[in-house]
This record gives sequence, structure tokens and C-alpha cells, in this order.
Amino acid sequence: MITLGIETSCDETGVGIVKETEILANIVRSQAIHSRFGGIVPELAARDHIKNITIVLNTALAKADLSIDKIDLFAYTRGPGLLGALLVGSAFTRALGISTDKPTIGVSHCESHIYSLHPNLRYPILILLVSGGHTELVLVKQEFDYQHIGTTIDDACGEAFDKVARILGLAYPGGAEIERIARNGRPENVKLPMPKTKKFDFSFSGLKTAVLYYHRDHRDTDPADIAASFQDVVIDYLIEKTEKAANEYQIKRIGVCGGVSANGALRQRFLNLKGREIIFPADSLSTDNGTMVAVCGQKRYLKFGPTPLDIPVFATKQGLL
Ligand code: KG4
Ligand code: ZN
Repeated sequence: MITLGIETSCDETGVGIVKETEILANIVRSQAIHSRFGGIVPELAARDHIKNITIVLNTALAKADLSIDKIDLFAYTRGPGLLGALLVGSAFTRALGISTDKPTIGVSHCESHIYSLHPNLRYPILILLVSGGHTELVLVKQEFDYQHIGTTIDDACGEAFDKVARILGLAYPGGAEIERIARNGRPENVKLPMPKTKKFDFSFSGLKTAVLYYHRDHRDTDPADIAASFQDVVIDYLIEKTEKAANEYQIKRIGVCGGVSANGALRQRFLNLKGREIIFPADSLSTDNGTMVAVCGQKRYLKFGPTPLDIPVFATKQGLL
């Protein structure tokens, strides 16, 4: 079965094509237009998806050496995300389904991030999803059987990276920029507070504010030292909460996914954990992409069938994911 997945929930236009578990193409076009605003402008995101989507689709089909009529199933991101951006992807995908007389399926962006761990996904597994819009701890007992055990009470983890990058005068999106300058930083030079939250909840806004004040009050401090300290605190915090959940639910296997899982320092620290099996997405699948949508869509379609054409997209998390 060949599935084509389309991701347009935020500022990446992604098309992925998978044949069962094999990735035939994974093409992502990131929208540069937002960098001058230091954050995503929803209307511009939707318009840019319209401009890019056919190009990205044709590039992916060419890469996979396939014509559109060879696709058996079309998958798209239904939400959560920016409504205008989601509408572009869902309308485009449904039009492809209708014109080729093939089924379409809409999937959750959060669930599709979990499927970026494919083909290493085994159950039960504890998932730490850390992206620009989400920070979730989810226990997956078996396929599609989710128990949501933690979330952020304010900013998402990736959002905190982006805001701290902005404070330090770095380009948007900031996560990769923080990681880049942190490599030459001395974290011990900058003391930042570890967030304190109940049980499996997360909070990043106090830490972000601490960086803001530190930077304001210590103008001579090397931004690399601040970035390194911020990154260290975030990683310590994520590891502390994840280990605590893994212990409480007696889970050995941990999967870390979402854009922040691209962070090399975070990967290394998780991999150093003793007595756990840690899995990450392939590098190209950490940040938003169409392949994870295709894999998730294929799995869901085989179990639950297609999504009716009149089902709307959604902006905020619905149910568990
Ligand atoms: O999953 P994703 O592509 O989009 C959302 O679903 O939000 O995640 C994007 C987020 C951004 O906040 C970005 O700054 C962060 O992932 N990110 C990183 C790194 N690469 C991307 N954060 C830390 N280190 C990185 N190397
Ligand atoms: Zn995402």
C-alpha cells in the first residue's frame, strides 16, 4: 500500500510517501517568510502553503518515481495547528483523493509525531513529545491506546527555545540556533532556576523570564553561556519528569519526538540513561514532515477506515492528542 501524507499545520509544507514501512520520499519546504517577524504569522503561513504545496507534491512524486494514480491513500493533518494552514492541506488532500478516486484520512499532528518513531515503535512505550506547540508525556500501552499523563501549563518546550533565542538576538526558529551557540558556551557561568511543577506537568515561562532578566542585568555575559545554561536546565527538567513517569508506570522504553528532539545534546543525555531503551526519530523526521502523517494515516486507515469528507479541521488539541 502506498500512502502520501501532507503536513501543513504550521510553517512547514511537507509531503511524504511511504510504501508500507519504506520511505519513498520526504520533501519539506520551510517557510522563510516568518523570520523577519520573529514568529509565525498565521495568514502568511496559509498563503505560503498554497504557493508551495503543488511544488512540494511534484518534487516528492518525482523523488519516489511515481505518478499520482499510484497512490492508494492520501493522509493529511487535521489538527491541532493554524486553522488557515490546516485548511490548505486538508482541502488539497481531499481534492487529490476525489480526483483519483482514492480514500483520504485526517490525522492528529501529535499522534503523527509519535509515528515519526516508526519503524522502531514498540509497545508499551512512554512518549515525550516536545515541539513548538506541544509538551506532552503520553503512555502508549498498545497501538492507539493512549494515556495522557502530563502537559505544559504555559509555553511549549520549543516555544521556550524560540523565545529565548529571540531574547538573545538569534534568528527564528530558535531551537537549532540555541543548540549551535550553546556548543561554545559555559553553562556553569550562568545560574538559571529549574522550573518547579506538580507531578508530570511542565512549565517553561518562568525559565524564559529568568533568561530575559539575566540577559538584561548581565550585558557582559556571553550569550553562548546563557544559551548553554538554558539548554542544560531544559534537558535536566525533561529528563527528570520523563524518568519519574517511566518509574511510576514501570516503562523501560522511552520515545522522544517533536522538533526539540532534533537537539543533539538532548539526544545524548537521554541515550546516557541507564536501563532504558531510548528511541528518536530519524534526523529528517524530528521536525514537521509529511512522512509521519503518511505512516500514521496508513496505520489508522487500516484499522479504522477513511475520514468522511465533511469532517472539519481543528485548531486545538482534541481529546488525548
Ligand atoms: O515539531 P515541530 O517542527 O513543529 C511543531 O509541531 O511545533 O517543532 C518545531 C520546534 C521549534 O520550536 C524549534 O525551535 C524546535 O522545534 N527545534 C529545536 C531544534 N530544532 C527545532 N529545539 C531545540 N533544539 C533543536 N536542535
Ligand atoms: Zn510538529
